Amino acid sequence: MTIDRQSFPPLDTSKAHPARVYDWLLGGKDNYPVDEAVAEKLPPEARDAARQNREFMHRASAWLAEQGIDQFLDIGTGIPTQPNLHQIVQGITPSAKVVYTDNDPIVLRHAEALLVSRPEGVTDYIQADVRRPQEIVEHARHVLDFGRPIALSLIALMHFIPDEQDAHSIVANLVETLPSGSYLVLSHASSDLFPELSAQVTAEYAKGGIQLGFRARAEVERFFDGLDLVSPGLVTATEWFQGAPAPAQEDSGIYAAVARVR
Ligand SMILES: C[S@@+](CC[C@H](N)C(=O)[O-])C[C@H]1O[C@@H](n2cnc3c(N)ncnc32)[C@H](O)[C@@H]1O
Repeated sequence: MTIDRQSFPPLDTSKAHPARVYDWLLGGKDNYPVDEAVAEKLPPEARDAARQNREFMHRASAWLAEQGIDQFLDIGTGIPTQPNLHQIVQGITPSAKVVYTDNDPIVLRHAEALLVSRPEGVTDYIQADVRRPQEIVEHARHVLDFGRPIALSLIALMHFIPDEQDAHSIVANLVETLPSGSYLVLSHASSDLFPELSAQVTAEYAKGGIQLGFRARAEVERFFDGLDLVSPGLVTATEWFQGAPAPAQEDSGIYAAVARVR
């Protein structure tokens, strides 16, 4: 994909956006005062959660590449933050192909950073909404071979999709398109691990016009129905690792898991 700057959709800087609030939490500079106004009112644990989530993405993606997975569909990519998923997996398998997707126009503006693939591999970007999964899959088919295993990553994404918008069916529909031997990588903010903090975070985002639907363990587990959870199963972001070195064991309010498609 080449980026046509003339066709950039306008950025709305009058209200906060999830990608930009998250960028602030990660210490990035691609955010606006409205985003900062939401982010700075969040408890400090929110910054820890963003970092822990990102580090889970690093570990899970590297592990998948080490298992021989060389095709990745990453939805809800976020504003590029080094190392990005393709840098991790192409560091292991230079020919890996990665399709990135986000619905926020600011991510499209920064997508050039996501498109700097190793020459042996491919990276691609589509601006699309996970609530229209067919559109994403249709695009991804131009780059990825759906006859071979694909890692689908929905990292810190599904808590932006409430039950009324059929969050679980969306994930099931996406997973259905994947062949056996594929993987689902999903992380999700919890409502039940630190309930007071979760309520506080949800309330602050809501003041900024962003609706969050944090979920309890059983509801997060349902995203993996019919799949085989990879060890250590559904755990917190800081508890998910394979082999050494183990991440620092700190409290985390983020659930995370990797599961294999049968
Ligand atoms: C918390 S960030 C996570 C970024 C990245 N996956 C990570 O974990 O580091 C959530 C991302 O999901 C995107 N997002 C939210 N709702 C979305 C939707 N309906 N469709 C696609 N992307 C969405 C936001 O724009 C944001 O970039």
